[in-house]
Amino acid sequence: MKILIVGSGGREHALAWKIAQSPHADKVYCAPGNGGTRLVAENVPLAETDIAGLADFAARENIELTVVGPEVPLTMGIVDEFEKRGLRIFGPSKKAAEIEGSKVFAKQFMDRHRIPTGRFKVADGFDQAKKILASGEFGYPIVIKADGLAAGKGVVVCSSQKKAEDTAGEMLVQKKFGPAGRRIVIEEFLRGREVSFIVISDGMRVQPLVSAMDHKAAYDGDKGPNTGGMGAISPSPFMTEKLFNEVMNTVITPAVTRLLEEGRKFKGVLYAGLMITEKGPRVLEFNARFGDPETQPQLVRLESDLVELLTAAVDENVLREDVRWSAKPSGCVVVASGGYPVRYDKGKTISGLAEAAEIPGVNIFHAGTKYENDTCLTTGGRVLGVCASEDNLAGTMAKIYDACGRIHFEAMHYRCDIGAIQEERT
Ligand code: AMP
Ligand code: GLY
Repeated sequence: MKILIVGSGGREHALAWKIAQSPHADKVYCAPGNGGTRLVAENVPLAETDIAGLADFAARENIELTVVGPEVPLTMGIVDEFEKRGLRIFGPSKKAAEIEGSKVFAKQFMDRHRIPTGRFKVADGFDQAKKILASGEFGYPIVIKADGLAAGKGVVVCSSQKKAEDTAGEMLVQKKFGPAGRRIVIEEFLRGREVSFIVISDGMRVQPLVSAMDHKAAYDGDKGPNTGGMGAISPSPFMTEKLFNEVMNTVITPAVTRLLEEGRKFKGVLYAGLMITEKGPRVLEFNARFGDPETQPQLVRLESDLVELLTAAVDENVLREDVRWSAKPSGCVVVASGGYPVRYDKGKTISGLAEAAEIPGVNIFHAGTKYENDTCLTTGGRVLGVCASEDNLAGTMAKIYDACGRIHFEAMHYRCDIGAIQEERT
């Protein structure tokens, strides 16, 4: 069958790479794709937000399965549009994707159904926000979250009341995030370990992916601003069988069941960002899509056919699949542009890719890249995801860092401690 992948990050390159290996995939397209996806798929110059253009393309080319990577087209309703036209697509509907698209909806949903999460209040005006902050009921630090999508920048941990008021003002008054900041969530700060818990749901039942640990901070030692993710390993060192069962019973199963009951049947990837606190797991956020970079080390470990798994979810028969994973750990180090996530240059020439790829067992997934003739250039903040999977984590990371050392572009930056366990934040 012909398969279309929507998106242009490392996640989409990993999806395209794995999907292209399936005997079911006769031809793979990626829209718009990047410098790496064109090695395993045909790039189509359509933006991920051009829903009508993507649906026209899928209809014209007889695409039999479309797989959506990023959250923005999902929250815009790409799945609804494709289904209206009788086109098969993997991902949640617009209503189901609201679990990621609106933090207010997600928090109130969890509250309604007693899904464990931090205590919170919603404010839709600055005076109301100031009142909540002045009450001191959540103590400090405190977390302020813009309601809507803000490209991972809408969550701010504030150490003092002054900082929290300033942040609330930026969102509610100065409209730093536009309509995404019309309402905010004010939330208690949770301490513990973060775990990404990701499942494929067919609307009723789920198939869990192997666990992963993301490293969100920009610099070594978990210093610097939060990013989309600077690297990940699978499995997460904090995942145990007991925790797995607890998260399935208290978070995942109730979320999928209650979304169905509320008329928001969730088909696609449900990703719970969790803080494992002293009192047990608490949901920091839900995402309605595969993680990035988590998908990269996860798919490196997947031995089953991804097309069969995704198709089973679309056809509402996810349990039919017996999913097999490699027992070996895997890792991914994100190579980023200097200055990411704040300000960075683009258009730098990347060298050493072939030398790095020569190391047996190394997979390099592209994110912010493009080719001009035979030259690979940077086009974004996160540029590459360098992955491997060996018998143990130390060997895996050594191989990845060997590969990273062979790659070069001006001002490139990557964390040197991916896979290490950090001190808990206090
Ligand atoms: P979110 O997009 O809601 O997952 O937030 C992004 C990041 O902010 C998370 O991965 C955490 O590192 C941090 N964060 C969010 N909510 C909280 C919270 N209530 N307590 C502590 N850290 C948080
Ligand atoms: N790596 C975090 C995310 O995909 O949201």
